[in-house]
Amino acid sequence: MERTLSIIKPDAVAKGVIGKILDRFESNGLKIAATRKIQLSRMDAEAFYAVHAERPFFNDLVDFMISGPVVVTVLEGENAMQINRDLMGATNPKEAEPGTIRADFAENIDANAVHGSDSVANAAIEIAFFFSEKEISTTSEQ
Ligand code: CMP
Repeated sequence: MERTLSIIKPDAVAKGVIGKILDRFESNGLKIAATRKIQLSRMDAEAFYAVHAERPFFNDLVDFMISGPVVVTVLEGENAMQINRDLMGATNPKEAEPGTIRADFAENIDANAVHGSDSVANAAIEIAFFFSEKEISTTSEQ
């Protein structure tokens, strides 16, 4: 069963749409294998987004990600990484397809409501950043 990491970002948490976003995942066949609401430290955010350290938007991204609590979630299911990316829509909400999470809940490319792993390999790295294996549990179909 494939796993991916989702982060509901501070803008969406502040708007009170945690439940609406988690419902998009569950309504589209993804299982919530683990979830937690946390406040990232500056060191956490810098380490999580280290791959973007040289990008011009890095400091704004880190400032934004520590501006309030986030919800980190392990999603599980067949094709979970790609399904989550399809549900999120384009990084820039102005380019996101209608009906996607970013089109419906995001303001701009910084405050873009959600993050999702961009490959299965990165998903494993990002999940391990936030969760130990014993905190993650598979839910089997009844
Ligand atoms: P996310 O999927 O969390 O990955 C990195 C984040 O950087 C991205 O979503 C955006 O919120 C933010 N960002 C800001 N400017 C850009 C940009 N020009 N290209 C990509 N990501 C950007």
